[in-house]
Amino acid sequence: MYRDLVDKKTKMAVIGLGYVGLPIALEFARKISVIGFDLKDDRIKLMKKGIDPSKELSSDAFKGCDILFTSDLNDIREAKCYVVAVPTPIDEHKLPDLKPLLNATDIVGKVLKEGDFVVFESTVYPGCTEEDCVPILERNSGLTYIKQFKVGFSPERINPGDREHTLTRIIKVTSGCDEISAEEIAMIYELIIEAGVYRVSSIKVAEAAKVIENTQRDINIAFMNELSMIFHKMEINTYEVLEAAATKWNFLRFYPGLVGGHCIGVDPYYLSYKAKQYSHHAQIINSGRAINDGMGFYVADQVVKKLIAFNLDIRQCKVLVMGVTFKENVTDIRNSKAFDVINELRSFGFTVDIVDPRASFDEVKTEYGLELKSQPSPPYHAIIVTVCHKEYLDLDENYFKSQGHSNLLLVDLKGTYKTRINKLNYWSL
Ligand SMILES: NC(=O)c1ccc[n+]([C@@H]2O[C@H](COP(=O)([O-])OP(=O)(O)OC[C@H]3O[C@@H](n4cnc5c(N)ncnc54)[C@H](O)[C@@H]3O)[C@@H](O)[C@H]2O)c1
Repeated sequence: MYRDLVDKKTKMAVIGLGYVGLPIALEFARKISVIGFDLKDDRIKLMKKGIDPSKELSSDAFKGCDILFTSDLNDIREAKCYVVAVPTPIDEHKLPDLKPLLNATDIVGKVLKEGDFVVFESTVYPGCTEEDCVPILERNSGLTYIKQFKVGFSPERINPGDREHTLTRIIKVTSGCDEISAEEIAMIYELIIEAGVYRVSSIKVAEAAKVIENTQRDINIAFMNELSMIFHKMEINTYEVLEAAATKWNFLRFYPGLVGGHCIGVDPYYLSYKAKQYSHHAQIINSGRAINDGMGFYVADQVVKKLIAFNLDIRQCKVLVMGVTFKENVTDIRNSKAFDVINELRSFGFTVDIVDPRASFDEVKTEYGLELKSQPSPPYHAIIVTVCHKEYLDLDENYFKSQGHSNLLLVDLKGTYKTRINKLNYWSL
């Protein structure tokens, strides 16, 4: 497979061209022939013009690439190596929603030929590839797993908004269903990953490695959020405590905050779901999730308490929320916990204005039914900075003062302004 791809005797098809799939497809397209397939024709049309619909890549990333963008299933038939990078969200019960993954597998199964490779990149629980996806590939193709087609798993570790840890600079874990395919898959990724690949012995190990990376982060942030709640009651500044503790060589640097998005706030549910099938109730993982999922409501409740303490009638209060993306410096609003803060405040009767220099007005309207304002309309009783985009980093006390009533409450969730605020009522996690 490796030789045929390098010699351009065959092609790779990347299924799902989102945050993960598009960078992979473009990187490979500098070395081999690639077919980029996505169900959404509107996204394909943008990519054909050299535009990344997720706004992570510049038009330069498309230059010099041997790639065909398509939403036509017939176009992927000529590929022999398939890389699947479709979403793996959770449903309303916080259980794995495998529909996009199984649908993509169904599509690949229909075009699978003897000798083909399928490599999954979507984050899943250990066992998903071989227990849930492989049977679909076998059923649709009539071929036998391992004997007639090979499967691998290579999780993605890119971090949206991070210009330093980009795809080619992150070590990639690779695996295959047998020794030969594992080696070929590793070599294929070595074509593009400058940082090198890390071979593991099985697909399950690769699946597990990815899901625990994000689960570990979720649990650590949950611990910081719990500390923040405790220290708030004790009237101790959490950030000052964390900075002092971090002077010890082995203290881990994590900070409190809202945990949203489609990875850290989602992947632990995949692991705890699978653990349950083995009669293990994942207590630490679930506790972390419960804390982090409740943080938006906690923040809103603190704001309410503080404004009531100022003797304000909260139904008359106007609040500005700055930042609605799931984290700083990205455009992605999926599963953003800023909307928990907003909706909880609205449920108390507040008027809540929202601004964000990066989020799309249309998406906020479609996904959450809310209007993003292009500019704040002061004066406000409280301003909550949920994520600190670069555009917000240099704001100072005078700016916030100019946007608020005389007793403005500034809620600086990430502690960005903690050394710059002297006179305002100030609270951070
Ligand atoms: N976004 C990240 O930073 C990141 C990082 C590491 C891992 N991951 C994981 O990678 C996977 C993909 O995430 P993403 O953020 O790229 O998702 P995304 O929503 O940005 O993109 C997915 C793309 O797949 C397309 N798609 C959906 N179903 C399809 C199908 N059946 N056939 C073809 N195309 C289909 C969608 O139209 C979309 O363009 C997920 O499992 C995610 O957990 C994401």
